Amino acid sequence: MAKTHEELIGRADINDLEAILSVTNTDVNEAIHTVKDNAEAIFTWDYQKGARPKLNRLYEKAKGSMWNGETDLPWDTEVDQEAVVLANAAQMGGIAAGMDLAGTPFEKWDEKQWIQLGCESQNWTLSQFMHGEQGALLCTAKIVETVPWIDAKYYASTQVMDEARHVEVFAKYLDTKLSGHYPVNAHLKMLLDDIIEDSRWDMTYLGMQIMVEGLALAAFGFIHQLTTEPLLKQLLRYVMSDEARHVAFGVLSLQDYYQELTAAELRERQEFAFEAAVRMRDRFLQQEVWERMGVPVKDAVQLVMQAPERQGFQSMLFSKIVPNCKKLGLLDAGADKGKPGWLREKFTELGVIAFEDWADTGEEYEMFALANGEVASQTA
Ligand SMILES: [Fe+2]
Ligand SMILES: [Fe+2]
Repeated sequence: MAKTHEELIGRADINDLEAILSVTNTDVNEAIHTVKDNAEAIFTWDYQKGARPKLNRLYEKAKGSMWNGETDLPWDTEVDQEAVVLANAAQMGGIAAGMDLAGTPFEKWDEKQWIQLGCESQNWTLSQFMHGEQGALLCTAKIVETVPWIDAKYYASTQVMDEARHVEVFAKYLDTKLSGHYPVNAHLKMLLDDIIEDSRWDMTYLGMQIMVEGLALAAFGFIHQLTTEPLLKQLLRYVMSDEARHVAFGVLSLQDYYQELTAAELRERQEFAFEAAVRMRDRFLQQEVWERMGVPVKDAVQLVMQAPERQGFQSMLFSKIVPNCKKLGLLDAGADKGKPGWLREKFTELGVIAFEDWADTGEEYEMFALANGEVASQTA
């Protein structure tokens, strides 16, 4: 039985703004959050290293690519957040460029308010990255337990260490260079919970390595290009060199495994990918920022959606996910007699199918790798 949109994402219309905004974090003061991970820990007695050569190569690469978040980044850099906001806005053509503000709550905003919005937006964005990184930390620890192959357990253990560094450096940047934190966005939290709760080991990979990390790699790349703040630029450079390996880990692990699945099992993977894509798109509306700025959230979101670069930015976030789903066979699984595959239809509805022939991330990590001398502690 085909699942409806309501069953998959809790609403009939993907673009139902009321429904999207009605999902909010009602527990902003909670200090810990518990999720059942429903999985069996698997031992393997087959210790033959390199039985999966591509994973083995990735593991060897990871061992030599560790950087130190405390000592390799220039934490003594002075960061003037307001100046950074202005510099970023200038790169995008100026504050509120291309938006028609007449009759909106923003009509009377002065430069100070726009700068404040920029600061809040940055606080929000990096906070969500930090929460997502913790999601990756937990997911990868789970993969160490649940994946049946020794080469994958070895590799996943290096990713656990990478994710610890990522959480650490985002948290430190927020604490020492920016002007406030945000709790986890409700859409992101739902997605992370769903990924962790699923008992099937490959769903952790699909949700985290393919979807969440695929989006993160694209988003980090965008901000890395845009920002002129040298500490953040360096931080993102390091993190991206790791993330490219992580996404490759997902692609290389799932590629063979998906060959063995039945049509019904593949359909469940397609549905999960779709749900994840929608949750991530929803989270980028950054509803909590508008609340904090004291403007009507729905009006603000509608206005932002019309901004000229917005569509481009939003779809760019899927530039890694779509080709990777294609490589895994998920786009076209179930295609029949001129009827396209289910996920192809859904990605078309989401307006992101155009990325299907972009480079996938199975090998791209070589290109992202840090060069000799790029990390201080590795050249000593
Ligand atoms: Fe990460
Ligand atoms: Fe990662």
